[in-house]
Amino acid sequence: MKFRLWSRVAVIVAVVVAGLGAVSAAPIPKDIRSGKGSIGIGTFYGLDLTRDVLVKGIHSHNDYWRDVPLFSALSYGVVSVEADVWHFEGDDTLYVGHNTAALSSDRTLGTLYIDPLLDILAAANPKNKFTVDQNIPNGVFDTASAQTLYLFIDVKTDGMLTWPFVEAALKPLLDKGWLTTVSDSKIKNGPITVIGTGNTPYAYVVGQKDRFYFFDGPIDALNETAYPAHVSPIASGSLESVVGTKIGPKGMDSDQYNKVKELVTKAHDMGIATRFWEVPWWPVVRRDALYRQIIEIGSDLLNTDDLALAATFV
Ligand SMILES: *[C@@H]1O[C@H](CO)[C@@H](O)[C@H](O)[C@H]1NC(C)=O
Repeated sequence: MKFRLWSRVAVIVAVVVAGLGAVSAAPIPKDIRSGKGSIGIGTFYGLDLTRDVLVKGIHSHNDYWRDVPLFSALSYGVVSVEADVWHFEGDDTLYVGHNTAALSSDRTLGTLYIDPLLDILAAANPKNKFTVDQNIPNGVFDTASAQTLYLFIDVKTDGMLTWPFVEAALKPLLDKGWLTTVSDSKIKNGPITVIGTGNTPYAYVVGQKDRFYFFDGPIDALNETAYPAHVSPIASGSLESVVGTKIGPKGMDSDQYNKVKELVTKAHDMGIATRFWEVPWWPVVRRDALYRQIIEIGSDLLNTDDLALAATFV
């Protein structure tokens, strides 16, 4: 009898402890999961998707690999997602995937990102007698409606040939007033902030006085002339190219740590947020140490391929 009681107590304690360590992600409804059906404006999003989800400074690297692109990230409160886009001559559609072998006609920038964002934001911004006086649109997070979602567009094909199609794909979001824009060097924040990276044409981007997209700045080469915050509100870089590949099991040594800290401080002084990619993920102890150091330094977006894991750090 006594043994039974104690084993039951042990089970309860184990469950409670496991529960404390777990990070809650909102459940993704079955019809979204299966790729069937749309969100059903005002039904699931407003009730479920990001309710109770705390916003976290995480960047969902290769987001389109997720169980359900975009939605998995939002369900963890992740504020930044990334899509690799491909353009092919004679075809207006932008395809999303890591390499050409991964492309398919139903995985496009429109179907995976733009259309769902239009649905989500329509649900977050109902037009009715309660909202007539609201002139700042709500973002995608119920718990932080002023938080913008960073949408990184990693251009894989020729920048100048591809970018016009990116602009065209973004137009429906722009027309609704849901993109962060720039006019005469002044930023006006919106629910979605588009950051061009990869082959995004820098000279073209900075040449536009009125823009609804930005350029991912080089974290180790920032200067006010080339990369003011209204051009690059975020700067990124490979951790391995900043500190080298010799990183011990306890993470960065003090020289490496200070080098990263210096770059982050400089970016922050310029009003620019930061992200490091190419953070070694193995061995696990070293990865964990690096994640902790990157967060301790104050870098804004923790770049990850594993949302559930990263959400336990931020
Ligand atoms: C700023 O960066 C650009 C691009 O890397 C470079 O061409 C330019 O010389 C830099 N300017 C200064 C003042 O360092």
